[in-house]
Amino acid sequence: MEHTMNGTAPVVLVVDDEQVGLDMLSRFSRQLGFEVVACSSGSDAMQRLRERKADVALVDLHVPEVGGLGVLEAIRQAHPRCQAILMTGVASVESAIEAVKLGAMDYMSKPIDLRRLEHLLVSVRDDLACRRELHAVEADVARRLEFHGMVGRSPVMQQLFGTVRRLAPHLRSALVTGARGTGKELVARALHAAGTRHARPLVVVDCGGVHQAGLETELFGCAPGACHATEGRPGLLESADGGVVFLDDVGELSLGVQGRLLRVVEFGELRRVGSLDLHRIDVQVIAGTEKKLENDVSAGRFRSDLYSRLTSVQIALPPLRDRREDIPYLTAHFVRECAARLEKPIRGVTTEAEALLVSSAWEGNVRELRSVIERACLLADGEFVTDWEIGLGLPPGHRAPSPLPAGNGEDHLLSTVEREHILRALQRVGGNKKAAARMLGVSRRALYRRLERLDLGATIARRKRAGAFLGE
Ligand SMILES: Nc1ncnc2c1ncn2[C@@H]1O[C@H](COP(=O)(O)OP(=O)(O)OP(=O)(O)O)[C@@H](O)[C@H]1O
Ligand SMILES: [Mg+2]
Repeated sequence: MEHTMNGTAPVVLVVDDEQVGLDMLSRFSRQLGFEVVACSSGSDAMQRLRERKADVALVDLHVPEVGGLGVLEAIRQAHPRCQAILMTGVASVESAIEAVKLGAMDYMSKPIDLRRLEHLLVSVRDDLACRRELHAVEADVARRLEFHGMVGRSPVMQQLFGTVRRLAPHLRSALVTGARGTGKELVARALHAAGTRHARPLVVVDCGGVHQAGLETELFGCAPGACHATEGRPGLLESADGGVVFLDDVGELSLGVQGRLLRVVEFGELRRVGSLDLHRIDVQVIAGTEKKLENDVSAGRFRSDLYSRLTSVQIALPPLRDRREDIPYLTAHFVRECAARLEKPIRGVTTEAEALLVSSAWEGNVRELRSVIERACLLADGEFVTDWEIGLGLPPGHRAPSPLPAGNGEDHLLSTVEREHILRALQRVGGNKKAAARMLGVSRRALYRRLERLDLGATIARRKRAGAFLGE
């Protein structure tokens, strides 16, 4: 069976200056399902490597021009994942060692043992298929855990994604409820993105914290001569015409503004402040609130007709403490974002840091989690953010128990063990802190911090003076 260039066949680069060998290896590889790139010289191979990504390479050590080792080096530079197999007529140990250093997967002497070669090529081919499948599965999982910028794997969040997906195309108005920082605005954005108006504007308005009179003209615009403007101007609702408007903190709207808003939602009519003219307007209104609006309705602070209009669709976001299983995924998401923005090689958080994150209170919900991680990433100096950096961002009451609490026997024992461990490492490397950090698997700064926390500075200085670190 011969596989053609369909983009999914694995690619083998064959480099051999003997035409017979080149033909034979090419045929053999094709039969195993590979797409073949055949080259008869080193420079030819270098050229082809620039155009085509190879998954595996069969390279004759003694090809003209750059030579087999040169080709290997070029492969390692251009396609680090490419597996290379070096072939030679005169097996020499030195070049074999050199080849392995350059990342060769194997070394074969000519005449090639075809059974062994088959075994190697098949394992590369199957590995690749396996990796592709794994990537597809991972991408699928990531897709399911991420929905229009929202991350969540807890059953409530998965269900919420489903609800948004189903309702968005049919939406007229909606109410999104949840404590501060739970992601209300993100839900509004997802409803917009998954709905029929995704190509039209989404206008976000924060109704709290703004003077209501100012908000009224901001939202509805004003007539010429009104609100200190000689010319009339449109409001935010008009600028969202045909699209979606998200009114966060809708419970803060005055009854007057609520009345105007009801006309917009109910009849598609808008009247600018100070004008009697009615404009036709078509906006989808999504409202957000952290309050229990029904209480405001019973107290007469919120119009019940507007309330029932908005609650035709209601989406409730639970606080983060009720969906702690989301925390590791949110964390990974925020760390990835921060690492990219800060151009730092941070890959994740340590197990201890994750445990601390998962067990914290999160009064400020996801927004607080995000800022704690952002701050920790700024401070972090290795591949992993530690519980130390995380702890700094948490409110004092929510930090993990300090490692040196007075009078706690077990913790005291722990810090004693840690002290001994660090001192032993220092001893082993003659007091060199950089080397000790490497040995302990922590960054130098992390080691310094531990030394400080465990109050080891004086002990070390004393031991150094006494020559205790020398001679090991
Ligand atoms: N599920 C989530 N996945 C990823 N990021 C999230 C999620 N939920 C919230 N965030 C992030 O948390 C922060 C707060 O989210 P958002 O502004 O949507 O919350 P909110 O409920 O509108 O808050 P507030 O009531 O304070 O206005 C944002 O930075 C947002 O990106
Ligand atoms: Mg908000």
